[in-house]
Amino acid sequence: MATRVNHWIGGRSVEPSSGSYHQDVNPTNGGAGAEIARGNSEDVNAAVESAAQAARGWHRFPSAKRGRLLGDLARAIRANAEALADLEVEDTGKPRAEALGEIEVGAAYFEFYAGLVNLPIGDNLDIEPGQHVYTRREPYGVIGIITPWNVPLNQAARACAPALAAANVVVVKPAEDSSQTSVALARLATEVGFPDGTFNVLLGLGPEAGAELVRHPSVRKVAFTGSVSVGQTIGHVAAERVIPLTLELGGKSANIVFDDADLEFAAKEAVRGFATNAGQVCSAGTRLLVQRSIHDQFVKMVVDATRTRRPGENLGPLITRAQYEQVQSYFEVARQEGLTAEIGGDLPNDEALQGGFFVNPTVYSNVDNSARLAQEEVFGPVLVTIPFDTEEDAIRLANSSDYGLVAAVWTKDISRALRVADDIEAGQIFVNTWSTGAVQTPFGGYKHSGYGREKGIEALNHYGQVKCVVVKY
Ligand code: NAI
Ligand code: MG
Repeated sequence: MATRVNHWIGGRSVEPSSGSYHQDVNPTNGGAGAEIARGNSEDVNAAVESAAQAARGWHRFPSAKRGRLLGDLARAIRANAEALADLEVEDTGKPRAEALGEIEVGAAYFEFYAGLVNLPIGDNLDIEPGQHVYTRREPYGVIGIITPWNVPLNQAARACAPALAAANVVVVKPAEDSSQTSVALARLATEVGFPDGTFNVLLGLGPEAGAELVRHPSVRKVAFTGSVSVGQTIGHVAAERVIPLTLELGGKSANIVFDDADLEFAAKEAVRGFATNAGQVCSAGTRLLVQRSIHDQFVKMVVDATRTRRPGENLGPLITRAQYEQVQSYFEVARQEGLTAEIGGDLPNDEALQGGFFVNPTVYSNVDNSARLAQEEVFGPVLVTIPFDTEEDAIRLANSSDYGLVAAVWTKDISRALRVADDIEAGQIFVNTWSTGAVQTPFGGYKHSGYGREKGIEALNHYGQVKCVVVKY
């Protein structure tokens, strides 16, 4: 019998009121995966009401005790990492080592915010004698957290840890394609002693459970990670309801390599940048801008490094059938646009991978920045290389994108590195490295990549509102 996964509401497992389940798919073979509770408005109501009832008590909970619980949850995640990885691998098909790495970062979020339960602090405003004026940071109350299927536990932890640290309560709606670890996380939270109702998981489909959650009058802020179009849909509702929103959307991030860079290391990192998690990473480095004098030589190095990524071994499948079809449709667009595939652009013809959503890691070279493959988010292991001549060209090309999530610049010239970092429109910039797992680093988008910030102390600013108290004496 298939695993049935139920909601986690008020500190216990709750079946869907409709009795119906969504059949998930196993991305490694196309067979049946877990059955996921298909939440409806009644279930959303139960989850949000449970959270709303817990909100006041959690706000008044002694902060040191709140921090201790977050720390206990971090330890519980680590102690259960293997079991969590089993679930993550079952849902996503990703290589176990990647799942374990993501789960470790999930633990690190709770560990980091555990020590920051009293941040940000309020101020005393010295205005005039006879007046005592101070500010307080107060939680919003119920936060609706909607996460995608690519890095499930990690993305849930990234939003839940600062939200809970800042004394909010949460209702998480994970993606229907990979829901199991969010429920396991909530169960662990209950086991380590989080009060019932502080950490709820509501399962179901986006346009049903997700949409109802955003509309629920007791949800006071939404944090969404996913596609631009759903971000826009949620944005309309948030505008009508006048509630704040954090949007962490997609990207087409530029990785800029100058001719004086450490090319060997840059090539390896470029592959990590576009092929990690089979390219299903919002901050993937999928536009490789290479100085023309070294373009062909460097692309060859990147292609060689790409050969080390083997589908079914250290390169997982696309996680959903829709994503598998989308990536193949981009292979077709590339053919129509006459792009040169230096490697990939097709499916592996390995018997053992039959039925799974695997594609070959792909590099298209000498692509024009205006091509669809250079402008649209593929969300698969697909890289385009774009030659450039000068520093100004590199900056102009990097910024000629609707997106602006992250970027990297490779050069030994520190002044140039800093000039480029100044001028790129993106929320995180890397110099002579690609990406960071560090939970301390504020993360979020410019332009269509979203707004609001996650991670770091900065995230706490987005999970609280300021009250100013004026006292005459
Ligand atoms: P999606 O945006 O539909 O799904 C993300 C989450 O939103 C899921 O939990 C889903 O159930 C929920 N959702 C969907 N419709 C909703 C609605 N009307 N109201 C409330 N919640 C809703 O993403 P999808 O369709 O799975 O992927 C499409 C594309 O989005 C990908 O090809 C990729 O380009 C991008 N994407 C970006 C991600 C990121 O990390 N920034 C993650 C996943 C996808
Ligand atoms: Mg799945």
